[in-house]
Order: sequence, then C-alpha cells, then structure tokens
Amino acid sequence: MAAAYSLWMGLVLLGVLQMGAQTQDSLQPNFQQDKFLGRWFTAGLASNSTWFLEKKAKMSMCKSVVTPTEEGSLNLTTTFFRKSQCETWTMLLQPMEAPGSFSYTSTRWDSTFNVRVVETDYERYALLFTSGSKGPSQDFHMATFYSRSQSPEAALKKKFSTFAKAQGFTEDSIVFLPRTDMCMEEER
Ligand SMILES: *[C@@H]1O[C@H](CO)[C@@H](O)[C@H](O)[C@H]1NC(C)=O
Ligand SMILES: *[C@@H]1O[C@H](CO)[C@@H](O)[C@H](O)[C@H]1NC(C)=O
Repeated sequence: MAAAYSLWMGLVLLGVLQMGAQTQDSLQPNFQQDKFLGRWFTAGLASNSTWFLEKKAKMSMCKSVVTPTEEGSLNLTTTFFRKSQCETWTMLLQPMEAPGSFSYTSTRWDSTFNVRVVETDYERYALLFTSGSKGPSQDFHMATFYSRSQSPEAALKKKFSTFAKAQGFTEDSIVFLPRTDMCMEEER
C-alpha cells in the first residue's frame, strides 16, 4: 500500500515536472490499465527507422485489441490487411515497475523494446512511445497514435503531430494512416 502510494506520488511529481516539456520518459499519470483495454485503431505513426520510411506510403489503418492475460501481461493483437488477406500479429507486453510502461521482446527482431503509454484519455486517444532497449533494434524509436474511432478528430491528429515532434521526429517521418474497411470488423 505504502509502496503503491509513493509510486503514485512519484508519477504525479514526474507529470508535474515534465508538464510542457514532454520527454521520452514521461508516462500517463495514474495509468489505469483496465480503461486502456479493448479496441483501438492505429491512426498515426512516426519513426525514423529506414524500414518504416520505406513502407509508410503503403500502410493503412490497423485494428488492435488489448486484453489482459492470466499471467498479468497485456495481449496486444493487431489485425491488418496484407497480400489480399487479414494478418494478425500478437505482442505480449510485460508490465514494468511504473504503470503504463511495458517491455516487449521480439524474437523476429531479436530485440527488447520499451513501450510507454505517454498520454491517454482512454475514450478517444492514446499516445505511445516505443524504443529499443536491447538487441540490434536499440536505436529504434516510434511514436504511435491510437484512436478509438476510425475517423479521429482534427484536434487529436494535431495533438499527435505535436507529440511526435516533441519526441524529435520530423514532419516527413509522421504519417496518418488512411482508413480502410479491410479486416476491421467490429468484433469487440
Ligand atoms: C533515430 O533517432 C534516434 C534518436 O534521435 C537515434 O538515436 C537513432 O540512431 C535514429 N535511428 C535511425 C535509424 O536513424
Ligand atoms: C492473444 O489474443 C489473441 C486474440 O484474442 C488470441 O488468439 C491469442 O491466443 C492470445 N495470446 C495469448 C498468449 O494470450
């Protein structure tokens, strides 16, 4: 109880100290995982990885569903349309000490990533920041804009651009993914 309280206080303090000058270590204060669950659409991305810069023009919106697992991690399953079929990709996010911060190990990239929910109102948008922490993808940095709606408001798109630029991404590394009807069925 006392530990949870001081952690919470620490996060509040962090939020206060970092207000206005968002750094790459900031997190949504008092992150509530249960409210973060459910379906999101990946409406925007920003990254300086060469892989992303090559692919970004061909990408379209994907659907992600976040569910808790029995082991206490988060199951983030993303569905997207590729080569004329729906593909799914599951990431298991292990919670780190600070609520809203997760660790993800990819066998495909042979790397570990830190995924952070930097800001969210749970009902309309979430801004995430992913960075490589171990392995060949250590210099990987990506900002993600999650939207509950397939047609996010202009004000939220602007919020994402401002966020991405604050993380050091240039205008041409920011992309808003076009809406698609492929693989978007509303199951949840
Ligand atoms: C991306 O940007 C980060 C932070 O500025 C940098 O450390 C990294 O080397 C960059 N990666 C690439 C592939 O340019
Ligand atoms: C993650 O969720 C997907 C979709 O609901 C499910 O098919 C998969 O089995 C889950 N994986 C784990 C390890 O929980």
